[in-house]
Amino acid sequence: LDNGVGLTPPMGWNSWNRFQCNVDEELIKATADALVSTGLAKLGYKYVNIDDCWGERRRDPQGNLVANATSFPSGMAALGDYIHGLGLKFGIYSSAGTGTCCETMPGSLGHEQQDANTFASWGVDYLKYDNCVDPYTSPIIRYKTMSEALNNTGRPIFYNICVKNDMQPAIWGANIGNSWRTTEDIHDNWDRMLYIADMNEFYADYAQPGGWNDPDMLEVGNGGMTYSEYLVHFSIWAISKAPLILGCDLRKLSNETLNIVGNIEVIAVNQDHLGIQAKKVRNFGRHEVWAGPLSGNRVVVLFVNRKRKSMTIPALWVDIGILDNVPHRARDLWQHEDLQTTFQGNMTMTLSGRSCKMFVLTPLS
Ligand code: GLA
Repeated sequence: LDNGVGLTPPMGWNSWNRFQCNVDEELIKATADALVSTGLAKLGYKYVNIDDCWGERRRDPQGNLVANATSFPSGMAALGDYIHGLGLKFGIYSSAGTGTCCETMPGSLGHEQQDANTFASWGVDYLKYDNCVDPYTSPIIRYKTMSEALNNTGRPIFYNICVKNDMQPAIWGANIGNSWRTTEDIHDNWDRMLYIADMNEFYADYAQPGGWNDPDMLEVGNGGMTYSEYLVHFSIWAISKAPLILGCDLRKLSNETLNIVGNIEVIAVNQDHLGIQAKKVRNFGRHEVWAGPLSGNRVVVLFVNRKRKSMTIPALWVDIGILDNVPHRARDLWQHEDLQTTFQGNMTMTLSGRSCKMFVLTPLS
């Protein structure tokens, strides 16, 4: 969507994966503080997004959505001010149906302009717009109505279409939103994460600056995968130009998690201004090569071994899209080092079980 935002994938945090409905203003403020104190904000993680369950069950007598009086007693405008005061951005959640997905709040159907105005008045910068308590009318129309309502506010608001993949929003979302879900919900385990990654890869050609495929939010740091499995998770999301929306408890961020999500070189791949989503270019079964172009004639290559035992995996230039036979220098983004050898025609790597290796290849001449 050409609304001036989302020219690179959005980065930030969302409450859902870790906290579900257990959200309140203290959590949100402490999370915003943590984004700054950990240094993640400086790396680009700017959006602080509240998911479902932030509001009262009923609208006020004028039909406005209202913040839950118990969990958000200061109100959303004050919370927005707090977040903006830290140099961050404020995100909120609603639904294109009659209720939100937890059914704790009204949805925005029939109240699109009123709610968009409310969000703008609170200083909202990002709307995740879910599709629950579905009235069985076309999501395309309902999502477009909110897109136009947001536009009418005059405030640039990143607009996430959270329609599940059964309605294929990747195919119709580009003129309506800044990102669209391509999958069901992620869960914090290896098999589900890879299943989601594969589903999202199918839509790679639809990603572009201003409109991104959304394979759901990150689980890194939530404890259900090993360090090496989380490296695979974060690497695939990064090369897929997926929104990097953290989903763990940032108040208790471990060094391990910070090393993963704070890898400045991997983030730079995600934020590359070309905005081309990498694809799985060779599938040997349970070990594979993913690759995609980056600015400056560079290529990002990700080797993924899904098996439990170690595997040797070749990346051929023809597979990864290098058309000439020019030798390339390789930078290992997880080891933070340039390899001593240069590569021509192919690059072959041995990977331990359930692991990945990620390189940026730069032509030598
Ligand atoms: C849906 C979405 C989730 C989350 C919940 C909230 O399942 O896909 O990401 O927003 O609703 O109820």
